[in-house]
Amino acid sequence: MRIGAYLAGSGFAALSLLSSGVAVAQSGASSPELVAKGAALFAENCQTCHGARMRNPQWGIDLRQFPRDGNTRFVNSVTYGKRQMPSWEDVLRPEDIEALWAYVSTGDPD
Ligand code: HEC
Repeated sequence: MRIGAYLAGSGFAALSLLSSGVAVAQSGASSPELVAKGAALFAENCQTCHGARMRNPQWGIDLRQFPRDGNTRFVNSVTYGKRQMPSWEDVLRPEDIEALWAYVSTGDPD
């Protein structure tokens, strides 16, 4: 893949030089822009059940407790739904879910 090849070709130091949100998201860290987009999507789609800024969830689980290394599980659960949790496949694009993960995985500290 293009980004992988770029990183492999230029070494680990290149990571700190990347500024594009997409490239940074792929490397595991998240850009402030992606986190902000995820926070907005969360407020729009998720907070009715999971609580404003993930606090005091009305019904869904406390997403601040969600494992920080659970990217794959997050994407699967959000895309396809899980038990009481609806599927978001028809509402959100994969890049939206990536932005949501960028936000949720920060734990939204004060
Ligand atoms: C209609 C209420 C509702 C909405 C809206 C909702 N959720 Fe959930 N969510 C739940 C419930 C209930 C659970 C617990 C499911 C279970 O494990 O039984 C859950 C669980 C989850 C989990 C944990 C899944 C796992 O693998 O354990 C994640 C991640 C999650 N929600 C993310 C989101 C995101 C992101 C959004 C917004 C796009 C969202 N939820 C919107 C109700 C909701």
